[in-house]
Amino acid sequence: MEQTQQSLIMEMILSNMIEGVLVIDNQARVVLANRAASKLLILKNEEIVGKAFFTLLDNQKINDMVCSVLRNGKEMFAETSLGLRSQTFRVHVAPIVIQQHLIEGAVIVFHDVTDARNFDQMRAEFVGNVSHELRTPLTSIKGFVETLLDGALEDRILCRRFLSIIDSEADRLSRLIDDLLTLSSIESKERMIRMEPVCIVQSIRSVLSILTPQISDKHLQVEFIYQQELALIRADADLLNQVLINLLDNAVKYTPAGGEIIIRCFQQEGRVVTTIADTGMGIPREKLPRIFERFYRVDKARSRELGGKGLGLSIVKHIIDLHGGEVFVESKAGYGSTFGVSFIAL
Ligand SMILES: Nc1ncnc2c1ncn2[C@@H]1O[C@H](COP(=O)(O)OP(=O)(O)OP(=O)(O)O)[C@@H](O)[C@H]1O
Ligand SMILES: [Mg+2]
Repeated sequence: MEQTQQSLIMEMILSNMIEGVLVIDNQARVVLANRAASKLLILKNEEIVGKAFFTLLDNQKINDMVCSVLRNGKEMFAETSLGLRSQTFRVHVAPIVIQQHLIEGAVIVFHDVTDARNFDQMRAEFVGNVSHELRTPLTSIKGFVETLLDGALEDRILCRRFLSIIDSEADRLSRLIDDLLTLSSIESKERMIRMEPVCIVQSIRSVLSILTPQISDKHLQVEFIYQQELALIRADADLLNQVLINLLDNAVKYTPAGGEIIIRCFQQEGRVVTTIADTGMGIPREKLPRIFERFYRVDKARSRELGGKGLGLSIVKHIIDLHGGEVFVESKAGYGSTFGVSFIAL
């Protein structure tokens, strides 16, 4: 290959690299900067090349590292935050040594590891949340078992009461684990999704029948209004049921006794839209953006009292995303909430 052709290829590779690359001489003057480096420094290439490296970047850690590499000729790595959005970069500085012991300059590579670090943090938070959620019912089970062993066992009435609390805490643990398994199977995409034409009205009817006991316990008035001859949607029927169960369960759970729930199904601009409106406690506006996060509960103590784990809506969001659908919410604290989902009409 000819020299010019080879250097053209080298230039192509450099300019298409995602990592920012800067080459400096032994006086720390920039000799070369690729496109990603210009983007990172928010400067044009001609504003970088020829400049002293230390005038370009206001980061003591990297500047010290470059000084040290130019002096000692030993490559170095560091992780630091840079840029307007405080991205995290892994920076690698390697000496350029052409003749033995003669340091001609250095190559500085910036690798953006922001996503990986955010992911690490999310994972750590998730493990923390799960442990906390598991510990709460376990602590309660252990407490009641100890009380029973300490003598309450002799009192039949007390014994029954404690055992039924232990039973419901164990149920809570098992529901929590079921939800976590659902989330993980949807997220890891290991669950096969069986898309088929589904009539959402039928799905809503079957979910309503599952929730009938809770609805009548709380004397809630439920109205279901749907357009005749509504189009079918393409969905995984089981997953769709989970979406509807979670949304309706919330409407029932967070609406005080005697309240009203109105479910509507209609077609709009090629989509089948379902809305579930309740006259419940509502959600303060500033909390709305967070309710689809895992383990997020507006009122932790109250929701936990109602058996809430803060996972329902994150499962809803995942399933809707898998279907290419949309989910939306409107709410006014103290007045009620309307949750909605929409799917492309078949
Ligand atoms: N219809 C609603 N009315 C008022 N608040 C709601 C409603 N739906 C959800 N929320 C709020 O959003 C939070 C998150 O809901 P999500 O369904 O994810 O969790 P959860 O109901 O607490 O627990 P679970 O995992 O058992 O569903 C709830 O804790 C509640 O504070
Ligand atoms: Mg819920």
